Amino acid sequence: MKIVAKVSIEQVEVAGKRVLVRADLNVPLADGVVQDDTRIRGVLPTIKNLLERGACVILVSHLGRPKGKVVPELRLDPVAEHLSKLLGRPVRKLDQVVGEEVEKAVAESKAGEVLLLENVRFEPGEEKNDPELAARLARLADLFVNDAFGTAHRAHASTAGVAKHIPAVAGLLMIKEIEALTRCLEQPGRPLVAILGGAKVSDKIGVLRRFMQLADTLLVGGGMANTLLAAKGYDLGDSFYEAESLDLAKTLLEESGQSRCRLELPVDLLIAQELKPNASYQVVSPEAVPAGWKAVDIGPETVKEYSKAVAAAGMVVWNGPLGVFEVPPFHQGTEGVARAVAESRAYSVVGGGDVVAALEKLGLADKISFISTGGGATLEFWEGKELPGIAVLQEKTS
Ligand code: 3PG
Repeated sequence: MKIVAKVSIEQVEVAGKRVLVRADLNVPLADGVVQDDTRIRGVLPTIKNLLERGACVILVSHLGRPKGKVVPELRLDPVAEHLSKLLGRPVRKLDQVVGEEVEKAVAESKAGEVLLLENVRFEPGEEKNDPELAARLARLADLFVNDAFGTAHRAHASTAGVAKHIPAVAGLLMIKEIEALTRCLEQPGRPLVAILGGAKVSDKIGVLRRFMQLADTLLVGGGMANTLLAAKGYDLGDSFYEAESLDLAKTLLEESGQSRCRLELPVDLLIAQELKPNASYQVVSPEAVPAGWKAVDIGPETVKEYSKAVAAAGMVVWNGPLGVFEVPPFHQGTEGVARAVAESRAYSVVGGGDVVAALEKLGLADKISFISTGGGATLEFWEGKELPGIAVLQEKTS
C-alpha cells in the first residue's frame, strides 16, 4: 500500500458548516452501560475542534452487527449519554439514520450543536454501500469527516460511499492512527519486536508474513502458537489448534527459516483440564502435554524469554492476547508480557480490543506509546492493504 498524507479537519474551513463525522462508537455495552469508552474518548478531539471552530457536528456510527434490522439493544442512546458526559454538553440522539425526523433536526441545528444519528447498520444499505443511502447521508452535511479508523477497512455507505458526494477529510484520530501505524512500517525502531497472539493463524496470516519481513523478532502466543507448535510435530493433547491450517503453519515455519526475523514460540505452556476461572493448572514444556489437558496460556519461562526480547527492543508492536486472558489464572502470560512492554523504553504500539482491554484492566494503558482503536483495521493496515475509508479521503498536495 502506498501511504499518502491526508487532508485533516485542521486544513479546511468549517465555520458555519454542517459536518458529518463518521466515528467508530462500537463500544462494549452491558445492561445499557458503556464498559470501555476508549473509542468514544478517541473521537473527542475531533468533535471539540469542530465545535470550537463554529461547526455543527452530525455524528454517525455503527454498534455491533444488526445486519440491516432495528435491534433495540443496539440503539446508540447509552453511547449518546456517555458522550454527552465526556463532552460536557448535550448530544441530541435521533432515532433514525435518515428520514424526515433526521432532516428536520439537521435543518434546525445550529453551530456548536452535536447530533448523533441512530445505529447506521440498522439501514440495510449501509453494509452494501448503497449509493442511495450514501447520497441521503451526504445531503445532511457540507463536509464529511472520517474519524472511524476502527471501521476504515469496511467499504460501507457511511465510511466510503458518502465521500462520493461531498468533500471528505480525515479527523484528528484518523490522522494519529495513520501516522502511528505507518511509523511501525516505515520507520521501525530497531530491534523491532512484534508480538502476535489470538486464536487463529488463518486470521492473521497477512500480518504474520508482514512482520516476518519487517521485524527482528516475532513472539507468538495464544491459540496461534498451538497451531505452529502442532505444525512442528508436537502433540498438544486436547489443546485448541487449527487442524485445517497445519499446512499453512508449516509454510510459515519454512518461510521463517529463510527470513532474518527470529520467530519465537512458547518454550513452556500453562495447561488445564477445564477452561474455567480458578481451574487448577500445570506448567509443562510443549512436548509434555498429556491427553485430556489443553494449553491455555504461555508459561513463566516463555514470559521471561519474551520479556527479555521486549526489554532490548527499539520498537514493540502487539496484537492479540497470549493466553485466555479473560479467564484467570490464564491471564498471567499476557499480563507478564504487558508489564514488560509497559516498562520498556521502546516506542510501543498496541492494536486490537483484547490486549487493550487487558492493559486497561492492569492499569498499564497509559504506559503504551500508542493504542490503536482498530482491531481488524489495524491488522489490515499493517498487512499493507488499502483501507476503503481512508482511500476516499482527500490527499494533501505538497
Ligand atoms: C471493530 O470493532 O473492529 C469495528 O468497529 C468494526 O466492526 P465490524 O468488524 O463489525 O465491521
